[in-house]
Amino acid sequence: MALSYGPGPERLRPEVAFITGGAAGFGRAVAESFAADGVAVVLADVDHEAGRAAAKSITECGGGAALAVECDVADAASVDSAVARVVAEFGGIDILLNNAALHLTTYSLPYAQLGLSRIQDCLQVNVMGIVHCTLAARASMARRGRGRIVNLSSSAGYEPRSIYGVSKLAVRGLTTSFAAELAADGIRVNAVAPGLMATDAALNDLVPPRVVRQARGNRLVLEDSAGRTTEAIDAMSSWWCTIHGLRGELKGCT
Ligand SMILES: NC(=O)c1ccc[n+]([C@@H]2O[C@H](COP(=O)([O-])OP(=O)(O)OC[C@H]3O[C@@H](n4cnc5c(N)ncnc54)[C@H](O)[C@@H]3O)[C@@H](O)[C@H]2O)c1
Repeated sequence: MALSYGPGPERLRPEVAFITGGAAGFGRAVAESFAADGVAVVLADVDHEAGRAAAKSITECGGGAALAVECDVADAASVDSAVARVVAEFGGIDILLNNAALHLTTYSLPYAQLGLSRIQDCLQVNVMGIVHCTLAARASMARRGRGRIVNLSSSAGYEPRSIYGVSKLAVRGLTTSFAAELAADGIRVNAVAPGLMATDAALNDLVPPRVVRQARGNRLVLEDSAGRTTEAIDAMSSWWCTIHGLRGELKGCT
């Protein structure tokens, strides 16, 4: 699908959000809510089929402009070409949500069990993916002297016990260092660090939860077949509020 806003007058252009991993889970939830707010959303995902289906569903639900672009954040060339396409079609990028990541139990296995290749994959996607996307989007944001970047860290990044946690600790470091460097271009960089969020992938990854029930507010209680309970956050109603907050608070900031 071609969505052409072109480089026309800035005031006629909708805000544009480039959401990595936007085909599923939290990225998709944010895309749906941004689109409902009139933001043009780009679902940049390595799973292009799922991205296209999500974009179609957002558009059909009247959620506004949604475009799926095939993008492997681990590959700088793939990111550059996805960003170039979006800048050509939409005229720029206002918000970058660095959300795509390898996670789930696999990437929390002991190092010896995980093996070098998967350790490298985890760092390449979760850490270098953010470097690639930030550097690629920077020029478009800097040209207009403003932009917001939000990185997905994790509570696992506070006391890492696995390569996943290490990658999310690195996300915190990338966030503070990029924030310092990009401030001169009017670009704000923040991170959020959720605990367990009840995305489909996270739920499917748990030892089969027998019961998922609403506790209070946006909290869910998951109970496995052995009767053990875990609390999770309803991804569809919680962290996106924070992301919207960052988007609103930073709107127009230089
Ligand atoms: N779900 C949780 O409990 C939880 C908790 C804390 C932090 N997080 C973080 O939140 C983010 C989203 O989590 P989720 O549960 O929605 O994940 P998810 O697995 O449901 O979705 C991830 C999306 O990223 C895409 N993706 C994977 N590798 C990619 C690549 N190389 N290039 C482009 N896209 C790629 C996948 O195709 C998928 O659409 C991740 O950064 C995760 O680490 C999740």
